[in-house]
Amino acid sequence: MSMVHLSKKDLVSILDLSKEELESILNVAEMLRTKQKNREFFVPLLGKTLAMIFTKSSTRTRVSFEIAMFQLGGAALYLNPNDMQLGRGETIADTARVLSRYVDGIMIRTYAHSDVLELGKYGTIPVINGLTDDEHPCQIIADILTIKDKKKSVKGLKVAYVGDGNNVCNSWLYAAPKADMHMAVASPAGYLPKEAVVKKAKELAAESKTQIIITESPEEAVKDADVIYTDVWASMGQEAETEKRKKVFAPYQVNSALLKHAKKDCLVMHCLPAHRGEEISAEVMDGPNSVVFDEAENRLHAQKAILAMLMAKS
Ligand code: CP
Ligand code: NVA
Repeated sequence: MSMVHLSKKDLVSILDLSKEELESILNVAEMLRTKQKNREFFVPLLGKTLAMIFTKSSTRTRVSFEIAMFQLGGAALYLNPNDMQLGRGETIADTARVLSRYVDGIMIRTYAHSDVLELGKYGTIPVINGLTDDEHPCQIIADILTIKDKKKSVKGLKVAYVGDGNNVCNSWLYAAPKADMHMAVASPAGYLPKEAVVKKAKELAAESKTQIIITESPEEAVKDADVIYTDVWASMGQEAETEKRKKVFAPYQVNSALLKHAKKDCLVMHCLPAHRGEEISAEVMDGPNSVVFDEAENRLHAQKAILAMLMAKS
């Protein structure tokens, strides 16, 4: 079976994907999931390797990418920058040039988005963003796959993101219009997504004839929502602000009272890790609307599609 390829070498942002490519990834992910569940081996990346650089912690991203490479016939290599010469001042450009001689792809989780762009610029192999301060594209692709699984089609659905205008929120703002979904974001003043991101999302929404709502009211955001999404109040790198953020974000908890304003059958999603009692109540996180663990599983299937569609050609 031949694999559909993505047009760009790297997946650093959701903006690297066309609407058609996003849809193709979902279709390939579904196909790969079916094959895996049937124990039908399909190894488009036989003999290929992925280097995985983690400057920040991870459970899902690390495990799902490593397993994804194994199931596609390849192997993954976990790299901690503190053990690499990168941690002693070797440049990102030289690291990219060297790794390109050994491996067939790089997945990186780090702070500065520009570091991932630089790795992609100097590397001759695909570079995949496993989370930066600005974006988390692989997560949102898995999220959309999950919504499609549950609702059959995502077109015309409304996702309400309640919480910090962070990396996950940014990728969702770019992805919602590309998936023909409406999106509302509710964040406290000072924590709304950046204007440049909202501007770009609104341009995409205009092309797709979908809506983007930015508000400080969680109730307004979740009104008639098909999906309520939240994420931690303090992201990796913001640990010093944890206590301050707990106070500011307290009215933004996704709980049973808030769910009453959404559709009765709305999906509750969280990229995880979650803090029950903070951004999400235990009752909702473990309640009937929650699909968070299917969402976590779909990281594996979505990333297998991304890896195969980027690396099978090289
Ligand atoms: N959602 C997510 O990226 O989880 P990890 O931080 O565990 O990789
Ligand atoms: N916004 C969170 C997502 C974790 C998967 C963070 O960046 O820490």
